[in-house]
Amino acid sequence: MEFVCRAKMNGLWVSKAIMADVWQSSMDHAVAVARKAGEMVRGALKDDRTVMTKSSAVDLVTQTDQKVEQLIIQSVKEKFPTHRFIGEESVAAGESCNLTDDPTWIIDPIDGTTNFVHAFPFVAVSIGFSVNKQVEFGVVYSCLEDKMFTARRGRGAFCNGEPLQVSEQTDIHQAIVATEFGSSRDPTAVDHIFRSLRNILCLPVHGVRGAGTAAINMCLVASGCAEAYYEIGIHVWDVAAGSLIVSEAGGVLLDVDGGDVDLMSRRIVAANNRTIAERIVKEIESFTLQRDDAPLQS
Ligand code: IPD
Repeated sequence: MEFVCRAKMNGLWVSKAIMADVWQSSMDHAVAVARKAGEMVRGALKDDRTVMTKSSAVDLVTQTDQKVEQLIIQSVKEKFPTHRFIGEESVAAGESCNLTDDPTWIIDPIDGTTNFVHAFPFVAVSIGFSVNKQVEFGVVYSCLEDKMFTARRGRGAFCNGEPLQVSEQTDIHQAIVATEFGSSRDPTAVDHIFRSLRNILCLPVHGVRGAGTAAINMCLVASGCAEAYYEIGIHVWDVAAGSLIVSEAGGVLLDVDGGDVDLMSRRIVAANNRTIAERIVKEIESFTLQRDDAPLQS
């Protein structure tokens, strides 16, 4: 949609065409509902100790994950009845995980469920929104820190309204690299993870960190506090929002084999620039995980 606005410049009236953002109201809604969801998470932090498991004994879920996802989906359905959803807990309950061209809300109600269970203080509500399989906006609410990270495709990334910019570091030896061990305890997968970690640590890098949530790790890259984040085993709901926040802050996304990232592939490298991303890629031993976390290939 195009609007024409008239403004006076140097005493002359000029007309300017302004493109309205068709997804602005969806994004506003995402921010509002993420904040509400965050309140619910904070409120439940001390009380919800009903821990259930999903794909493995360490893939945890709580009633709060389920309630928060219902809250988000319900409120979006009321406002945008034609939109589709991929939600972590809905998929766990048997819904399909297909990314189509339709406007789709990609939701992780609590990214960092293990942190939540232990009151380890990094927990995020992550909402990505994609159209034609392209993420249009991403919202990550780090609810215990009260930091609202947002990005709109082509319009930059922000934390609590302040613009984000990735680090300018190009020397891997001066980098902080974030990663996670994920929720597979299959010994073959764990061996791959440890060999990659060893390779990267011994480059050497300044340090390796992990916040316990993919979404917050990616926001740390977007904020310039870490140069890179990589993980094999994540799902689209862990990274949809964060991926746009990183790229809108000036960063790059790659597959762990160095190709283009595919948000459905369960693998990602997010870095401040291509030099760092490609250096990380060189050190990663790639492997593939199925939905049930069984390793498919080396
Ligand atoms: C998990 C977190 C964790 C990552 C796992 C994810 P969840 O998400 O992002 O950091 O290592 O791969 O599954 O289960 O807490 O939403």
